[in-house]
Amino acid sequence: MTFEPRITAFVCNWCTYAGADLTGTSRLSYAPNIRIVKLPCTGRIDPLFVLKAFEGGADAVLISGCHPGDCHYASGNYHARRRWSLFRKLLAFTGIDENRVFFSWVSAAEGQKFANLVNKVTEQVRAAGPFGERNLARRRL
Ligand code: FES
Repeated sequence: MTFEPRITAFVCNWCTYAGADLTGTSRLSYAPNIRIVKLPCTGRIDPLFVLKAFEGGADAVLISGCHPGDCHYASGNYHARRRWSLFRKLLAFTGIDENRVFFSWVSAAEGQKFANLVNKVTEQVRAAGPFGERNLARRRL
């Protein structure tokens, strides 16, 4: 049985979610391993959301929003980027490999980029294997 990763994606409503929507309306296919959680802005993504996703069974987390300078709330993505830099340093402390958390910018016009990103993340996580024995055991139930 091949391992199929579960990836939780926290995306902003205005850019990456619209980009994902464009992927669908353009009929581009991408790996079905992603579950999208739409938030108003990447500035709203609390690091606890990421930890909760891993606790709930995710093998990886993707965070994506508007490109720098394009945030609909002016500076939310700059806050997210700063928070992410600090949070990265805490990941090892929590026992999560920092290579399981991905950060990207995808605009509403970048449907192909979104598809490529999801495929790339899925391949990397598939190669890394499942996150934790507990998650694996939960899937066997
Ligand atoms: Fe997209 Fe702020 S609205 S990152």
